Amino acid sequence: MIQGVDTRAASFHNRTVLNTSACSFFVTCAKGTEGALRRELAALRIGGPRGATGGVSFSGTLMDGMKVCLHSRVAMRVLLEIAAFAAPDADHLYAETREIDWTDFVGHGMTIAVSATTHANPHLRHSGFAALKVKDALADRLRERTGRRPDVAPRNPDVSIVLHVRGQQARLFVDLAGEPLHRRGYRAAMVEAPLKESLAAAMLSLGAVAIDKPFLDPMAGSGTLAIEHAMAARGIAPGLHRRFGFERWIGPEQRRIWDSLVKAARAGIRPNAPCPILARDKDKAAVAAARRNAEAAFVLADITFEVGDFTTLAPREPAGTLCTNPPYGERLEVGDAGTDVRRLYAGIARTLDRMRGWRAVFLAGNPALAQALGRKPAVVHRLWNGPIEARLLVYDL
Ligand SMILES: C[S@@+](CC[C@H](N)C(=O)[O-])C[C@H]1O[C@@H](n2cnc3c(N)ncnc32)[C@H](O)[C@@H]1O
Repeated sequence: MIQGVDTRAASFHNRTVLNTSACSFFVTCAKGTEGALRRELAALRIGGPRGATGGVSFSGTLMDGMKVCLHSRVAMRVLLEIAAFAAPDADHLYAETREIDWTDFVGHGMTIAVSATTHANPHLRHSGFAALKVKDALADRLRERTGRRPDVAPRNPDVSIVLHVRGQQARLFVDLAGEPLHRRGYRAAMVEAPLKESLAAAMLSLGAVAIDKPFLDPMAGSGTLAIEHAMAARGIAPGLHRRFGFERWIGPEQRRIWDSLVKAARAGIRPNAPCPILARDKDKAAVAAARRNAEAAFVLADITFEVGDFTTLAPREPAGTLCTNPPYGERLEVGDAGTDVRRLYAGIARTLDRMRGWRAVFLAGNPALAQALGRKPAVVHRLWNGPIEARLLVYDL
């Protein structure tokens, strides 16, 4: 697959859905971050975002969908609805899927992948089976129209198709982004338990972290929070340094629109972050990883890096926001030179006593943190870090 304009896509007009202003989208996000996503969509002037658990729906143009891919920091996937129909069983699912003109998306020689989620349908209980039915129907339809079945590529397909079944109702989508949006392309170096980029961005938004005040992550790990904050402070669109699935199948007219969105996003970048940003961790290797990631994200010059223990943090002026996700516990108890997580949390509480005037935003996966901090949070917000239920705790110190 060549990068840039794909000649295979050039003959597409995407006539069924794309030339209308009323495409339906479902934008997925981590559970508990829907409010932050709705705010982002509103800021992008996307009309009428409607909430749901784990995502937000809206109606708009393909350009709106592209805009979300490029600018949303909180979204995970942008799904363009292709069809919605009753699918009480596998035969109906096959028949309805075969009705769709897939040549709008799947050009000659393109690869596909189909994923599915199913809920409350006894005849489509297994998501793998439901996905296979869709793949078969799509392949049969394309062979009938073009004489060729598409190849399936579970990794890095040209077109990702998503099926959602809920009860008797099925919805088919094309995933505009391809690789999920949290993969911004800057994670050059890994540490244990890094925060997903989209969840870090949601934390910054839900914690109302100001870009015009100093920022500090004292347990920064691979630097995700500091990097996401720096990118927001510089106005760097999160999708600017990666490719998207739709770039492989849009036609020339849509590509012109995409190019203009990218150009406007580049023009909107500020030369530096307005306030100091500090990423600190007691682990030297984590700080080195954070530095490499910041470089890959083009924000190295905006962030200061330090090796140091949270409990030795000296008070800093002027006040700003301390934003961090401390270890949840299990790893510390077994592996961290015998340090007990409760002792660490008590140390965090004592350090906060010295930070008068600061706002502190924590992602707490362990209820012992709130107990150790003792104070009354200004905000408590429930959200999910993958399968782990966590709390966003905000304190004005
Ligand atoms: C859950 S990880 C943070 C992950 C980070 N948000 C990221 O995206 O990579 C917790 C971090 O706290 C650091 N840490 C643990 N105890 C610490 C202490 N007493 N002082 C400073 N850092 C500490 C660990 O080294 C680890 O990098």
